[in-house]
Amino acid sequence: MINRPDVLESILAAIQNMRILVAGDVMLDNYIWGDATRISPEAPVPVVRVSHETFSAGGAANVALNIAALGGHATLFGWIGDDANGRKLEEILSAKGVEIVDGTVSPRHETITKTRVLCNRQQLCRLDRELNPEDYALTDGDVAEFLSPAMRGVDAVILSDYAKGCITTESIRAIQAAAPAGMFIAMDPKPRSHIEYRGMSVMTPNKAEALKLAGIDCDDSANFPADEVFSRIREKFEPKHLVVTLGADGMLISTNGGKTPGEHIPTVAREVFDVTGAGDTVIAALTLAAAAGVSLCDAARFANTAAGVVVGKMGTAAASPDDLRRYISEARKQ
Ligand SMILES: Nc1ncnc2c1ncn2[C@@H]1O[C@H](COP(=O)(O)OP(=O)(O)OP(=O)(O)O)[C@@H](O)[C@H]1O
Ligand SMILES: [Mg+2]
Repeated sequence: MINRPDVLESILAAIQNMRILVAGDVMLDNYIWGDATRISPEAPVPVVRVSHETFSAGGAANVALNIAALGGHATLFGWIGDDANGRKLEEILSAKGVEIVDGTVSPRHETITKTRVLCNRQQLCRLDRELNPEDYALTDGDVAEFLSPAMRGVDAVILSDYAKGCITTESIRAIQAAAPAGMFIAMDPKPRSHIEYRGMSVMTPNKAEALKLAGIDCDDSANFPADEVFSRIREKFEPKHLVVTLGADGMLISTNGGKTPGEHIPTVAREVFDVTGAGDTVIAALTLAAAAGVSLCDAARFANTAAGVVVGKMGTAAASPDDLRRYISEARKQ
């Protein structure tokens, strides 16, 4: 992590107002909270009495919120339906200053929504609303019409793939072709066999995703064959930098084509409340810092620090500059 306040301040100052375009699978997370004291007479299921309902932005939309929370300027592209859930999502995003690219809200698409029913604080079931992946695929025409103009005014691009269909080999190629020369393009992949994530500035898979990208069939909990994973991903996809996140073990990184991990960045052991969305924080913070000219190693340390903040928070999936300041000052006391 970053443990010197002066280093943190210089990165925070550098990333303010950096402009990042986030494109990918946009989702709405919906939580229905309640309790159950009886079984339904209609079927052997509990009857949940709803107390309240909450909404948050998921997938690429959560990446955009993480950019905004850190002080960057986020522009988001990813299909949002012309429906009630879409309006909810727009409300959440605009409240945090995230700009939505024209054309994002589309009557042809349903807003991808995951509704979790929580009964006595435990998840009872999840209800997913989404179309087929083919329905969300970005065509060359979409890239030309919506993403090309949006890419002109930004300092970097993040592609946030949640396997809902937006990111395909073709859309990746079209985005790369349309991007201004030298544009930093970061990819958080959700590997499927038919997708080629070639030529990214940086990729940030987690352990399981890295194994899949490398084509190594091995149990995630077994000893992680880091050298083999790195060299295979390098050979197949040739990213400039590779950051593999290891959950509680931090991250492994290799920069500028290195075939093996050059550095391990450990996490600082703290109380962990909620690890979901940590990957979104990583790619947001990493890309902001890299776009601002911070070295990839320092950008990764910064991202690791921001993710450490987020996993220590319940319910909130983004870190602010003040959260980071507090976090490192507390870590220094330990
Ligand atoms: N238990 C933990 N303790 C401390 N830090 C953690 C923990 N879990 C995750 N992190 C931080 O978050 C980063 C990303 O975590 P992880 O590898 O789980 O990503 P992920 O699987 O993509 O997450 P998600 O998809 O849920 O957002 C790690 O590199 C680390 O910095
Ligand atoms: Mg992830």
